[in-house]
Amino acid sequence: MATSISVQLELTKRHPLIGAEIRGVDLATPLDDRTLESLHDAWMEHLLLIFPEQDISDEAHIALGRRFGELEIHPSLAHRASQHREIYRVSNVDEQDNLIPPKETAWQYLSQSWRWHTDSSFREVPSKGSILHGIETTNAGGNTLFANMYAAYDALDGDTKEQIKSLWVIHDHDYILSLSPELSKKQNQGQYDDLPPVKHPLVQIHPVTRKRCLLLSPHTMVNIVGMEEAAGRSLLDRLIAHATEARFVYRHVWEPHDIIMWDNRCTMHSVEPFDNVNIRRIMHRVTLSGENKPIPAFA
Ligand code: OGA
Ligand code: MN
Repeated sequence: MATSISVQLELTKRHPLIGAEIRGVDLATPLDDRTLESLHDAWMEHLLLIFPEQDISDEAHIALGRRFGELEIHPSLAHRASQHREIYRVSNVDEQDNLIPPKETAWQYLSQSWRWHTDSSFREVPSKGSILHGIETTNAGGNTLFANMYAAYDALDGDTKEQIKSLWVIHDHDYILSLSPELSKKQNQGQYDDLPPVKHPLVQIHPVTRKRCLLLSPHTMVNIVGMEEAAGRSLLDRLIAHATEARFVYRHVWEPHDIIMWDNRCTMHSVEPFDNVNIRRIMHRVTLSGENKPIPAFA
């Protein structure tokens, strides 16, 4: 059932725990303050907002992002749109409109987003949210999964909550490269901004909602500080398996010109594999800069 959340916006939940569809707003035109506030409230409540039928330009996409805060420039040079550095090209098609061969560095790097992750967890101040525009989409795979990390934390048993409460994790951008067997073999692994490893708490407090949630990002998590490697890895793997159980996850099947905006502080996402050799999939993303280092839940 659609409910009205302001004069013009219509909100429909897509999943009991995460994700709401929003209609009644045109993202091609600048958001007025009242609409911005309603959207922000809905975003905090539902963690991810889905806006169908928004065929907007990159310029409008960037302007939309800027209404919510500053934008990151992605560390991978090869994935920045040549006309707009703020656009991160999530695509198996290059700017000359050619399919990218699967072994090529640009695709190997991007395809690591098929693993569960949160965007920019490799930064000292990770991203607050991302806004992704599906330009050429497929529904033969290529669905995006989003997990609610508040619910995942809440559902942990008491012993595990106690065990993890003061733990910190090392996150490293280079770990992404090490996960690709193809990239690991290569001399040239691509050009990236210099990003030293960082340390984040395993349980954080969301700066706006003040609720506790897990901070997991499997594609950058190297190990747990102070734990023996195998023990740390097995704890992380157990938490990842728990947090990605179907009950916490919304699966988005894309339609062309869906725009999805998610909160990187309380969700994780992954992409379901698709036939990237034969099927084109082009998405443009803007990434909202974070405003604070993750706040440890138990200082
Ligand atoms: C992203 C990402 C999702 C997708 O844009 O951050 O991980 O559906 N991709 O391609
Ligand atoms: Mn991502």
